[in-house]
Amino acid sequence: MTQALYRKWRPRTWDDVIGQEHVVRTLRNAIRADRVMHAYLFAGPRGTGKTSVARLLAKAVNCLAEDAARRPCDECAHCRAVNEGRFLDLIEIDAASNTGVDDVRDLRDKINFTPSQGQYKIYIIDEVHMLSTAAFNALLKTLEEPPAHAIFVLATTESHKIPATVLSRCQRHEFRRLPVSEIVARLKHIAQAEAIEADEDALTLIARQATGSLRDAISLLDQLASTGERITLSLTQTVLGTTTQQTVIELVQAILDGRPQRGLEQIHHALDAGADARALARQVVEYLRAVLLIHMGNGGQVETTAEIKERMENHAHAFSLKAILRMIRAFNAAATEQRGGWHPALGLELALVESLDATSSGSETVMEETPRSAPKAVAPQPSSAVASAARKAPASKPSPPTGEAGSEVERSGEPPVVSLEKVAAAWKSIRALVRPQYPAVDGLLNSCTLLEVRGDVLVLGFSSPVVMEKMDKPEQIAIARRAIAQVLGVDLNIRCVLTQNKGQIPPDVKRDGMVAAALQAGGEIVDVQETRVSRSQEGEQHG
Ligand SMILES: Nc1ncnc2c1ncn2[C@@H]1O[C@H](COP(=O)(O)OP(=O)(O)OP(=O)(O)O)[C@@H](O)[C@H]1O
Ligand SMILES: [Mg+2]
Ligand SMILES: [Zn+2]
Repeated sequence: MTQALYRKWRPRTWDDVIGQEHVVRTLRNAIRADRVMHAYLFAGPRGTGKTSVARLLAKAVNCLAEDAARRPCDECAHCRAVNEGRFLDLIEIDAASNTGVDDVRDLRDKINFTPSQGQYKIYIIDEVHMLSTAAFNALLKTLEEPPAHAIFVLATTESHKIPATVLSRCQRHEFRRLPVSEIVARLKHIAQAEAIEADEDALTLIARQATGSLRDAISLLDQLASTGERITLSLTQTVLGTTTQQTVIELVQAILDGRPQRGLEQIHHALDAGADARALARQVVEYLRAVLLIHMGNGGQVETTAEIKERMENHAHAFSLKAILRMIRAFNAAATEQRGGWHPALGLELALVESLDATSSGSETVMEETPRSAPKAVAPQPSSAVASAARKAPASKPSPPTGEAGSEVERSGEPPVVSLEKVAAAWKSIRALVRPQYPAVDGLLNSCTLLEVRGDVLVLGFSSPVVMEKMDKPEQIAIARRAIAQVLGVDLNIRCVLTQNKGQIPPDVKRDGMVAAALQAGGEIVDVQETRVSRSQEGEQHG
C-alpha cells in the first residue's frame, strides 16, 4: 500500500463526484457554455469534495478534449499533468500554513504572467479563512481586477470568517455533508475494488462515524483495512474506541510539546467526526486522572492496555504534579460547565489554552535552571521535550530507550539483513503507512537521514538533538518498526544518532553516550521539578 486510499480515490471526472449535484451541474454547464467565472468560493464541511471539485475545474478549463461537454477528459496531456501534480498553471495555496500570506503576496506579483502550459491559471486557496487581514486585502486587489487568464477557487470550512468584500466577488457554492447511504455505497465500491473484505453493518458504522465527510470515512476504511483482518462490526467498534483514546493521548502530547495548533486540530477533528465535546472532555479527565495516579506512585490502580499505560507513564513523568492538577481542573470544567453550550468546542479550547499555560511557565523554569539548556528566548517546545526525556531517568535505571537496539549495534561486523537502498526505496511507502494514524511520527521520519543498516539495525541520523529525542522513544520506534516490517517484511531495530553534517555520523558521537548524558542530567532536573512546582504556585498567586 503506497498511497492513502482517500487520495487514490480522488474524483477524476465529474461523474466520480458523489453528491454535490447542484455544484457539479452549475460548473459543468459553465464549462460547456464557456462561461467560467473568475472567482469561486467553495464552502462546506471538511472532506466533502471542495478541493477535489476545484481540481476538476482546473482540469476542465485546460482540458484539450475537442468536445467541451467531455471536459475534463482525464486522458489528455493537461488532465494527466493535473492528476500527477505537475501542471504548472494550477497553483495550490494552503492559507493555513505559514507561507500562505507570502504566497498571496507573491501571487499578486506573478498573476499577470500568462499561463505557461494551459489556457487558464487556476489558483486554489485552501482554508482561505485563515488568511490575515493583510493577505485578504492583497487578495481583494487581485479579485477586483483579475486578468482574463486567471481563475480563483477559494475553499473554506468556515465561510462566516470571510470578509464580505471578498464574498461579494465570488460565485458561492455550498458543499453538503454526504448522507450515510451514499457514503456506504462509496465505501462498498472502494472495498470491492481494493479487495477489502468488509461487512455491511461495519461500513454503516464507519459512515455514521464520519458524519458526512467522505474523506474521513475512506480514511477509517483504510485504517481498518490495514489490520489485514476482515472488517467486521466488532473490529470496527474496537478500532473506533481506540481512535478516541488516541485523540486524548495526542491532545495531552500536544500540551506537553507546547503545540497549541496541534491540540486544536485534535479537538476539532474529533468534534467534526461526531464526538461529543463534553464526553471528550470527560475522557481527557479520565486519562489525566490515571496519569495523576501513576505520578503519585499508584499506577497499580490503573487498568488499561499495556500500550496506553506506557503513554500514561511517559506523561506522568513528563508533567509536574501542579501541571497535572491544573489540567484536570481545566478539562473537568469543560466537562461539567455550561460555558461551551452554544459553541461546542469552546470549553475544550479554553481548557487546552489553560493547560498550555500551566505547562509552559514550568518549562521556562526548567530552562533557567538547567545548566545544559538553551537560552531563555527559545520556544517552550524543545525544552519540554528535552525535559521530558531527561526526567524519565529516575524512574528506571539508565538503559537505552530503544531497549534491545543497544546490544545489537555492537555487532557492527554483521552484514545488513536488508540493503540501505531497499529501505530508502521503500521509505515513502513506510511513511505513507504511518501517516494517517501517526502524523507526528511521519514528520520525524521525514526529518532524518537514512545512514546505514548494520546487521538488523537501521541507523537514522538527526541533525537536531530535539528532533532526535522525539523519535528516540520506545513508542515512536515501535510505530516505525511495525511499518517497516509491514512494507519490507523484515524486523529492523532502530537506532537514532546525531549527525553534524547531513549524512555523516560523527565518529565521536555515540548514541549511548548521548543518552547517558541526558539521563545524568535528568537527575538534576528532577530537583528543578520541585522548584518548578513552587514557582508556578507563586505565578498563580500573582496572576
Ligand atoms: N463529494 C465527493 N465525491 C467523491 N469523493 C469525495 C467527495 N468528497 C470527498 N471525497 C473523498 O475524500 C477525499 C478528500 O476530499 P477533498 O480533499 O475534496 O475534501 P475537501 O472538502 O477539500 O476537504 P477539506 O475541507 O478538509 O480540505 C477525496 O480524495 C475523495 O477520496
Ligand atoms: Mg480541501
Ligand atoms: Zn483532458
